Parts: sequence; C-alpha cells; structure tokens
Amino acid sequence: MKNQSNIAFILDDKIVTIDFSEEKNLKPTTSVLEYIRLLPTKKGVKEGCGQGDCGACTIVLGELNNENDISYKAVNSCLLLLPMIHGKQLITIENLATKKDNNIILHPVQQAVVDTNSSQCGYCTPGMVMSLFALFKNYKNPSREIIEDALSGNLCRCTGYQPLIETAQNSCKGQKDTFEKNKNQTINLLKKINQKTKTISIHTEDVHYFRSTNLFDTLQIRKENPDAILLSGGTDSSHKKISEKHKPLKIIDISSIDDIQYFTEDNNNFYIGNGLNLEKLRTFAASKLPVLENILKVFGSLQIRNLATIGGNIGGASPIGDLIPVLFALKAKIKLQSNSGKRITEIKDFIKSYRKTDIKTDEIIESIIIPKSDKNIIKSYKISKRKNLDISTLSGAFNILLDDKSFVKEIILAFGGMAEITKRASKTEDFLLKKKWERRNIYKAVEILKNEFEPISDARSNKEFRRIATGNLLIKFWSETNE
Ligand SMILES: Cc1cc2nc3c(=O)[nH]c(=O)nc-3n(C[C@H](O)[C@H](O)[C@H](O)COP(=O)(O)OP(=O)(O)OC[C@H]3O[C@@H](n4cnc5c(N)ncnc54)[C@H](O)[C@@H]3O)c2cc1C
Ligand code: FES
Ligand code: FES
Repeated sequence: MKNQSNIAFILDDKIVTIDFSEEKNLKPTTSVLEYIRLLPTKKGVKEGCGQGDCGACTIVLGELNNENDISYKAVNSCLLLLPMIHGKQLITIENLATKKDNNIILHPVQQAVVDTNSSQCGYCTPGMVMSLFALFKNYKNPSREIIEDALSGNLCRCTGYQPLIETAQNSCKGQKDTFEKNKNQTINLLKKINQKTKTISIHTEDVHYFRSTNLFDTLQIRKENPDAILLSGGTDSSHKKISEKHKPLKIIDISSIDDIQYFTEDNNNFYIGNGLNLEKLRTFAASKLPVLENILKVFGSLQIRNLATIGGNIGGASPIGDLIPVLFALKAKIKLQSNSGKRITEIKDFIKSYRKTDIKTDEIIESIIIPKSDKNIIKSYKISKRKNLDISTLSGAFNILLDDKSFVKEIILAFGGMAEITKRASKTEDFLLKKKWERRNIYKAVEILKNEFEPISDARSNKEFRRIATGNLLIKFWSETNE
C-alpha cells in the first residue's frame, strides 16, 4: 500500500496542495470552515453554530461522477474535516461572480437575489446563496417543494423565506454559467488529482488520519489501528466532538471508498452500500422503499444528508436516530466486513445499549440488506418540534401483515426516543398478534402501549407527552392502513 501525506483540491480554478507536515496552523482535524476563514480573500463564509444547525457556513463541493461530469452539493463546512475535500472542487461565495473589463458580473443566482430584494442579514446570506447556487446547478425550474428542501439547512430568524423562494424560481432556468463553461478544464484538474491518489496517511503531533478509496486497504488499516475512530459523513462524530477527544487521536475516514457506493437489488433483497450519502439514498428509496424515503425527507437538512450515511446512523446507535426504527420495521440486516471475512447480523441484535453496537474493532458496516416484502404495510412517523433540521422527540416505524380476514399475522412496532435504545413494543405486539385489526383492539392496545416504556422528560418533551404520542401514532397507523 503506497501512502501520501498531502491532500489536493481545486480552489479558485487551481490545484491547491496541502502538506500537513509543513503547515503549522493546520491539522487533519481542522474543519474546512476554519481553513477557509484563514485565507485572506475568503471571509464570505461565516461560522454560526459550528455544528451543522444554521447553514451560515454552507459551501458547495464539485465532485467527479461516473458520467465523466461534475456533480455539485451544498455542505456545512463546519462539519467537514479538511482532508475530506481531497480530490474535490471547493466552491466558496467569492467564486460565484466573475469580472469582465473590470466590471463585476454577478452569477444568475446572485443577480436574482438583487432583483428580488432577497438579501437578508449579512451573516446568513452567503450561506443561503450557496444553497441556491447548488440548487441552480442541479435543477431546471425546481418545484416549490424542492426549493424549500434546498433551503431547509439555512436558518433565518429575521426575514423569512418567500423572497428567497422567488430568487430560486427566477434564477434556476437551466442557463449556462461560468462553471459550465469551465467544466472541461475542472474535470481535467480533478482527474489529475484523483489519478495520482494513493492511500492518504497524515501524521501530526497528536492526530493520525487515514483515508483510502478502496475497501481492501481500508480494512487493512482498520485491523492495524483497532483504536481508531471510523468517520463516514462526520455529521454525528462532528469536527467539534472529534477535536475534544483525547489525544493522540486516530481517524479512519471511510467517506471515499468507491466499492461501497451502491444501491442494488435482486428478487429477495435491496442492498445499500454504506458509501451512499443519505441524499443519494433518498433518490433510490423514492421508487423502491417509500417508507425510507418518507423519513429521509425530514432527516436533518439537505446539507446534512449530502454528507451523512446510513452506517453512521446505525454506528452512532443513538436512541433518537431516525433510521434505526425504520430498519427494525424493515427487518434489515447489517453486513459487517473485516479483512478476515464478513458476517451478517440483524439490526435488532446489532444495537446493544446506549450508543453501543456489536461491532468488532476490525470491522466496518459495509452495507445494509433489506428483505423485500410486498404484502406487508410498513410506515414510519417522526415527531419533532420543527419539520426540518430537528431531532426527533420520538419516532415510530411499524410493519404489519394481515390475512384476508384482517387478522394480524405479523406485526413490528418499533419506537425511537422511548428508551435508551430503539425498542419494539413487544407486549403490545403480543396483544395484537392474531387479533382482528379493528378499532376496538387498537384502543385496547394503546392502553398497553402507554405503559410499555419508561420514557424520560427532557428539553424536547415530558414523559407523559411521549407516552400519549406513542398511542396516537398507533391509531394513526391503524387509520392509514384502513384508508
Ligand atoms: C444538524 C444535524 C442534524 C441532524 N439531523 C438528524 C436527523 O434528523 N435524524 C437523525 O437520525 N440524525 C440526525 N443527525 C445525526 C447524524 O447526521 C446522523 O446520525 C447520520 O446518519 C450520521 O451519519 P455519518 O455518516 O455522518 O456518521 P459519522 O458521524 O461519520 O459516524 C457516526 C458514528 O458511526 C460510526 N460509523 C460511521 N460509519 C460507520 C461504518 N461504516 N461502520 C461502522 N461504524 C460506522 C462512527 O464511528 C461514529 O461512531 C443530525 C446531525 C446534525 C449535525
Ligand atoms: S456554522 Fe452553523 S451550520 Fe456550520
Ligand atoms: S437572514 Fe440572518 S437571521 Fe434572517
């Protein structure tokens, strides 16, 4: 395995190389936001929350895709570690406008901001423009739903979103911009970096960082470094959390492993490679796994989904992780891979206790296997204070199979936010099994369900609300299965 200790990316149409052994101010744990703010000509990007919640730090990354083209995605630069942008194009707000004969020519998105008076406070506007720019690159005449989703990670507490929505409607018309005109040149530069890429292995005084684009080498690194932290999207093990960890710190970045970026299916199962970010997964799920798409629609924000992965949600094993209850309902299996082999385990056996899983120190979650079940009705619900960019107060995901007389043949009632881990309401399930799926029995089941968990009161809600809400979700599920 050949190693390199430097990273390279495109900024301002040039390849920038960073050799961490020569840069006193930079470590592998430096965030992209911190790096950009150090550059004298790049002060447009702002730090608000520093943890993915406000969007003030939004930048756009250009990445080579399989079609020999560039795909653009908005991300939170406060969450990204600097080495994670290796082999990508880093686009900041300063790159949007161009100059001709000493005149500044605004990007169509920026011009629309001026024309619709949608410039808001100086702190948030650059991030909002970057989100609108990514939308411009990805959609022609986007629907209102798509525009709102694109802005879901940019919080405004002063003015509101209507002028920004009009900006998007007026500017995203599919016209060519300078990025399109310079595309071939950018593709050549990206290829130049990526063709040369070996395993990246950066060692500074207190941080050791590893990154490979192939699974085999990654598993070898994992075996040799059992004490290292795995990093997929880095939205849960965020830059700040990692920086607070004890030193020396070892990080294995698995965000660029090509071999695990897939969504495939056969007659029996869907197979989701962990390398897919949640936004890509959402597009596949839209036609194949609507219950998964449903929860992904309200998962974080577009910036978060552009980085986060399904394996990161499972690996974090948070009791309020939104995907875990859905994976319980889907009877998902986890494929774990180490360099001595693979093993497959059921999700319910993999989550062991609060934020603990059954992973071994030489394994990674390679993929998720979801059995096909055409006859079952599977639905998921998230209760949170805000629709977007909010953590669940609780969530429920349910799976039911009825016989032709409406008697329950199979049932899974999985809840997040009701205990220290995702749990099934097994007493309620037992009560409903073989019973008629009718109002009388549902109301009896609700009484059992209310006493099945011992939820806690916290900043999001008190325990009584949680108890009542679980029952209401069951009633909602029942009424929707009767529609
Ligand atoms: C602003 C914001 C909003 C959020 N909103 C939501 C939300 O709505 N719903 C929700 O559920 N979560 C939410 N999260 C939490 C987080 O985004 C998700 O849990 C996400 O799925 C984590 O994925 P990741 O790839 O970023 O994981 P990482 O941060 O990279 O990793 C998380 C954990 O999983 C482990 N891990 C990662 N990949 C693997 C692997 N392949 N094998 C084994 N272990 C692995 C890591 O070691 C780490 O312990 C939010 C986070 C932020 C910052
Ligand atoms: S600074 Fe708030 S999302 Fe990055
Ligand atoms: S734009 Fe900054 S708070 Fe509204």
